[in-house]
Amino acid sequence: MMPSYDRSIALYEETRRHLAGGVSSNVRYASVPVPLFFARGEGARLYDEDGNVHIDYILGNGPAILGHAPPAVCAAVAETLSLGQVFAGQHVRELELSRRLTALLPGADLVRYASSGTEAVQMALRLVRAFTGRTKVIKFEGHYHGWVDSVYVSVRPSGNEAGPAEAPVAVSDTPGAAPGAIADMVICGWNDLDHLRRAFETHPGDIAGVIMEPMMVNGGVILPKPGYLEGAKALCAQHGAVLIFDEVITGFRLGLTGAQGRFGVVPDLTIFAKAVAAGFPMALVAGRRDIMEIMQTQGVMHGGTYNGNVQSMAAAIATLDILTADRGALYPAMEARGTRLMHGLGALAAKHGVKLHVTGVPTMFQTMFIASVPANWRESSLLDRDRAMAFSAALQAQGVRVNQRCAWFLSAAHDDAAIDETLAAADRAFTMLV
Ligand SMILES: Cc1ncc(COP(=O)(O)O)c(C=O)c1O
Repeated sequence: MMPSYDRSIALYEETRRHLAGGVSSNVRYASVPVPLFFARGEGARLYDEDGNVHIDYILGNGPAILGHAPPAVCAAVAETLSLGQVFAGQHVRELELSRRLTALLPGADLVRYASSGTEAVQMALRLVRAFTGRTKVIKFEGHYHGWVDSVYVSVRPSGNEAGPAEAPVAVSDTPGAAPGAIADMVICGWNDLDHLRRAFETHPGDIAGVIMEPMMVNGGVILPKPGYLEGAKALCAQHGAVLIFDEVITGFRLGLTGAQGRFGVVPDLTIFAKAVAAGFPMALVAGRRDIMEIMQTQGVMHGGTYNGNVQSMAAAIATLDILTADRGALYPAMEARGTRLMHGLGALAAKHGVKLHVTGVPTMFQTMFIASVPANWRESSLLDRDRAMAFSAALQAQGVRVNQRCAWFLSAAHDDAAIDETLAAADRAFTMLV
């Protein structure tokens, strides 16, 4: 029997009368038949207002690395509620978290907190411009660094407006962006060192920094080619530019030290968010002392009322307690279950005669309906979107929630039983596709 979404539909209609567009983030439109209303989440599962149960692989778009409502994190936060929330002053949890993060993360001489990934990216960009005295920043097609004007550029460029692959044009992805905001963004194809080298040569002495998702996620889950990250780091060093890894989504997900630990390349600055506080709003920039300290020594402005608030700090400390326990033993266990899921989905696609590539790593992957594994945005944009949406809808009908691009996030709460249930549901979903 197909699930009913009648109550979500009615609630959404009513919400639209009061809340612009009925959602608080445009990303939430990507849901059928309407943005669903959830009553609660627990572990790997979400429970919607119609009484449907979803094994959730969206996980709030990444943060819920420990599953929904992880008891130890909730308890740690609850303990702090009566202490207060924002002091416009310092508190010891901020010190404790900073001490732990600088000890844990390679290259993190200093950290500074923000409340969202978008804001932390802006902090990093301001830092690299102030540090180098240059203005231009290299950004890659398909990479997402938040929704503000200066970086919401060439995230999903299409057709002629994006120009030729070897000389892409900066394309703002939203109406209403200030036209000048993207003037200093130099757009490049990712995973191609020659292209990056040319970008540096075209703007000699002008590039302040290079920002990238070290494993592309938002424009298709794609691994860096062997040697690419090392090569990018070397080019930055050669041209006096700062390398920024945006690990908002890969941080604490691809391992305790994120993509940089997994691939063995430490950038100058890193942005972390999402999984670091298991769902509470928290982000940070971590990096080299000489760059980070110019916030104080040169007065490079960074502010934010909610930065370092008591509950987010408590959530991050409790999350780190769990993630670092037994030297990060949780990660190999997650990887093993994720590997089983990736292989299982691949095998089911073959069984049903469906052409599918499973790309990424076990804690973050994508089931791509595409002819060959892509290396960058231009190639991943060739995926069959209609088929991806149909598969996502079929999975939802079978009680499994993935986004409409069929990207899958895994949490520590997805146990073997959840994986088995998911594979059985996917088996049925594939029959709905053909
Ligand atoms: C790589 C990356 N950077 C930045 C952001 C923006 O973070 P936030 O949504 O917390 O502002 C996101 C959000 O998905 C992201 O995936």
